[in-house]
Amino acid sequence: MNVFMTGATGFVGRHILKKLMEQGHTVKCLVRPDSAPRLPQSPQVMAIPGNIHDPSTFESALGGSDGVIHLVGIISEVGENTFYRVHTRGAMNLVDAMCRQGVRRLVHMSALGTRPGANSQYHQSKYDAEVYLCSHFLDFTVFRPSVIHGPDGEFTQLLKQFATLPFFPVLGDGKGLLQPVYVEDVATVFVSALTKPESVGRVYPLGGPKAYTIEAMVEVMARAMGRSPGRPMHIPLWLMNLQAAAMETIFPVLGQAPILNTDQLVMAQEDNVCDSSEAQTLFGTPFVDFEEAVRRYMSRVSS
Ligand SMILES: NC(=O)c1ccc[n+]([C@@H]2O[C@H](COP(=O)([O-])OP(=O)(O)OC[C@H]3O[C@@H](n4cnc5c(N)ncnc54)[C@H](OP(=O)(O)O)[C@@H]3O)[C@@H](O)[C@H]2O)c1
Repeated sequence: MNVFMTGATGFVGRHILKKLMEQGHTVKCLVRPDSAPRLPQSPQVMAIPGNIHDPSTFESALGGSDGVIHLVGIISEVGENTFYRVHTRGAMNLVDAMCRQGVRRLVHMSALGTRPGANSQYHQSKYDAEVYLCSHFLDFTVFRPSVIHGPDGEFTQLLKQFATLPFFPVLGDGKGLLQPVYVEDVATVFVSALTKPESVGRVYPLGGPKAYTIEAMVEVMARAMGRSPGRPMHIPLWLMNLQAAAMETIFPVLGQAPILNTDQLVMAQEDNVCDSSEAQTLFGTPFVDFEEAVRRYMSRVSS
């Protein structure tokens, strides 16, 4: 297939692109010019330098594509990359360009927790994108994953850092649940969806087999490293909010996205869990257990 892809240089994108290449697809990747060198050198991969904010940079490259995988997303706002502009407006730009080019198949990355009236701007902007693409008569499939883990993922790297500390920070009472899903499983369902007509018009939540608190995940990491976990240090929400607000003021001045923001803290107060049996059945992929995956890839997690 001729696939057009966005977000190929990101954590999830790298794994999806690898799988697409293994399966013999040719892939045009929309990449910001500075990121283009991070794409693999292969006759199957073509860089389309551009930006999701500017459809004129990618519209003609969409022509003739059999399917589109849209992953572009941010967890923190900086400059022109706001949640609305990247998630909602960006998806609108892509969908409009697809319609003009007569491309119908779209496999779209959303996020678990996305819903009308969401508490966070991240989830609300993802929901608004879903509404737009659902109303454009495309052959869409939407995936909504909980947190995604893998050896090269920032979340996993953070857990590893926490696992080496005598005390690690935990928001509030630390009872919030996440359902980590392995990046290889996410890549499998995205690539399979392209050739599964049964998935057209469907929205799939994705979560691993079990839900964990942050403390439990740090313990899994520590055990995989052959050490005892440190102790959780419960930080009250107001203090975390103060830190996030300070970062949101300082980092943009330096042209950087804050490493912690208040929107993330809003999301962290919600459980992020789901039933992903429907996706596992349709795509024939029993999702890998978090502990099992961590044991497999622990030696490859960079600090
Ligand atoms: N990681 C998770 O736990 C998780 C969970 C649920 C949903 N998601 C969603 O999955 C998607 C991928 O996440 P990820 O963890 O792989 O994120 P990531 O590593 O930060 O990758 C984001 C990708 O988007 C690209 N991008 C950002 N702004 C862009 C713009 N204005 N124009 C073109 N490209 C742009 C980045 O390009 P550069 O290389 O140029 O920066 C990068 O390729 C996102 O939509 C995210 O919301 C992630």
